Amino acid sequence: MPGVEKRIIIAASIFVLAVIGVIAMSVRTFGIGVPTCLYDVRPFAEAKVIQHGPKRYEVHYVAQMWNFEPAELAVAPGSTVDLYVSTKDVTHGMQIVGTNVNLMAVPGAVNYARVKFDKPGEYLVVCNEYCGVDHHNMASRIHVSEEAAAAAAKAREAALAAQKLPSLAQQLLDQYSCLACHSIDGSTGAGPTFKGLYGSRRTLTSGATVVADDIYLRQSIDAPDAKVVKGFDAMPPIPVLPNDIGKVIDAIKALR
Ligand code: CUA
Repeated sequence: MPGVEKRIIIAASIFVLAVIGVIAMSVRTFGIGVPTCLYDVRPFAEAKVIQHGPKRYEVHYVAQMWNFEPAELAVAPGSTVDLYVSTKDVTHGMQIVGTNVNLMAVPGAVNYARVKFDKPGEYLVVCNEYCGVDHHNMASRIHVSEEAAAAAAKAREAALAAQKLPSLAQQLLDQYSCLACHSIDGSTGAGPTFKGLYGSRRTLTSGATVVADDIYLRQSIDAPDAKVVKGFDAMPPIPVLPNDIGKVIDAIKALR
């Protein structure tokens, strides 16, 4: 009988090696990753989209009752995305319909998968672990589209630029929605950029010129249609509190 045992052991070993070989081959040839549970990484408390290259993304999904963050993700077709998922509360599932991604979001752990989005379109991300009354509504979307990816990249850049402002000034400019039209990085929006604005000489629609000093800025906030810079439409009236006008001007000054 020892001969039979030997043959069984050899057959079993060949089988195990074959399985490992198939896994290795699928990883190398088809880029199919085996979902991994990363126990040594601190669970992400915050959702994040990091773009490493034109078609390389790292996305930290955070699941909680009953949504995924980010709720919307946009990548260019052909992108490879490293997905990490963690949960803030109970166990959730994370399945991307139409792909082979099916991860668990387990408290205290971070799960990982790599996925390549070749086909343009909209992919639905759903929770497939029962997690409470609104489980069936827990979903998010991935848009695979050049245009959507470009728009999302621009929005991320703007958000990053906003973070570089001194926090108090940023809060104020945010609070009055100034940054919706006035960039702080020199790019032109619906209004002139704040970067380098203070102290500069502006040409108005009337052809006259004016220096953007405290007086001019105050006037522009009080009566936006009085002296409009050439090439722009008059700003809609913004109800800045009298106490805040000086602070808004200081925030613009800081961007000189
Ligand atoms: Cu989350 Cu079901």
